[in-house]
Amino acid sequence: MDKNFLWGGATASYQCEGAWDVDEKVPSMWDVYLHENDLENGDVASDHYHRYEEDIRMMKEGGQNSYRFSLAWPRIIKNKEGDVNQKGLDFYHKILDTCKKYDIEPFVTLYHWDLPQYWEETGGWLNHEVCAAFEHYAKVCYEAFGDKIINWTTFNEPKWFVANGYMIGNYPPGFQDPQKTMIAAYNVMYASALGVKAFREGGYKGQIGIVHSYTPVNGVDDSIDTRIAMRYADNYCNNWILDTAALGEFPIDLISVLAKDYDVSFMKADELKVIKENTVDFIGLNYYSRTLVKPYTGGETQLSFNHSGKKGESKVLIKGWFEQVKDPNNETTEWDTEIYPKGLQDGLIEAWDRYHLPIYVTENGVGVREDVTVDQVNDDYRISFMNDHINAIMNAMDQGADIRGYYAWASFDLYSWKNGVEKRYGLVAVDFEKEQKRTPKASYYWFKDMIESNGEKIQRREFD
Ligand code: BG6
Repeated sequence: MDKNFLWGGATASYQCEGAWDVDEKVPSMWDVYLHENDLENGDVASDHYHRYEEDIRMMKEGGQNSYRFSLAWPRIIKNKEGDVNQKGLDFYHKILDTCKKYDIEPFVTLYHWDLPQYWEETGGWLNHEVCAAFEHYAKVCYEAFGDKIINWTTFNEPKWFVANGYMIGNYPPGFQDPQKTMIAAYNVMYASALGVKAFREGGYKGQIGIVHSYTPVNGVDDSIDTRIAMRYADNYCNNWILDTAALGEFPIDLISVLAKDYDVSFMKADELKVIKENTVDFIGLNYYSRTLVKPYTGGETQLSFNHSGKKGESKVLIKGWFEQVKDPNNETTEWDTEIYPKGLQDGLIEAWDRYHLPIYVTENGVGVREDVTVDQVNDDYRISFMNDHINAIMNAMDQGADIRGYYAWASFDLYSWKNGVEKRYGLVAVDFEKEQKRTPKASYYWFKDMIESNGEKIQRREFD
């Protein structure tokens, strides 16, 4: 591996910081949604707000050279007028200075889903004004941290928070409405382009990208109908983010299909020009699994998501488009995620062939229930998962893909959105019951050795 390859873990502000109302932070849409619905929340989470020094030191001791994290918009911008909260900036300066102290390269996301509630109250991503507000927030961050950060990304996973928030309804704001989904998707991609534009116009050093929840698409067979279903699935899962961010264009076949049933007049020529002219420098791909599909011709759209950790609750069937199916030969987690490292290899090669931009694997991990009261969590399954996925990355690199980093999700245990803290992903165990005690898992030491061996420790194999 190249000596500049970035090896690290990733987190997100809402999922780890806690301190939800400290130092003049205003509520995010997630704070309000979870409080109002009396759901498990991230008020305290992993208390990274107070324990960042220990967490970043452990990254260094674990052999890592980078940390991917997000900035919280509601910590930094106090109100709709755009006033800046200096205490919010100070917190991230402390994080960045600690990264520097330990020689950890920061890899920073501007938006990992925690929209300020004052914007949600005006319609959130359905309100076009939020795009300009995002641009203002991005500019404040570039100005404040431009000399400490060289790797920026605008949004984490537009597909995930838009589909879940506006189509499936399991995330705030909880809509199940295709028209709203399209508007939110458009506004997010336009806001992302504005963020890229502001970065370039400001002449800041470094590079800017976007992070996508990548689910490469496979079909159950090679028939024409399955191929058509695959294209629908690829447009729904991947292309509206990656084509738009990397090539500057929404997939035309997707827009023409949607235009038959929905109003697409919210797409404006001058804004599409901004999208076209402000494509990203690189793409970040979060990989958990692929999407295996077959045609879905009968019945209504059915979408549901497994947040209980009881197998069999996830469903994705989109009327006239595709049905997501399971491959009975592969293992799935209790949360219905198929373990399929070959999908990462195939997906990386596909993304490289299609976009020819540098790629960072910005999240990869496995979420499970774990007893963290033991001296050390022996998470062999995570070691094997990481080995196989890093092997997939190496195979893709051998075939020419330009991949520059790998981030385990997550650096340490954190709050897993609607799954609460029960679903654990960390390299470091956090005992949420016992004063947030941190204890490295076996995977943390394995990752350290693997990084120190510069990838030589990976058990290599070709996938069938
Ligand atoms: C990604 C997100 O979708 O996957 C993370 O960027 C998230 O924020 C991770 O936590 C795992 O998903 P989940 O729902 O199991 O926490």
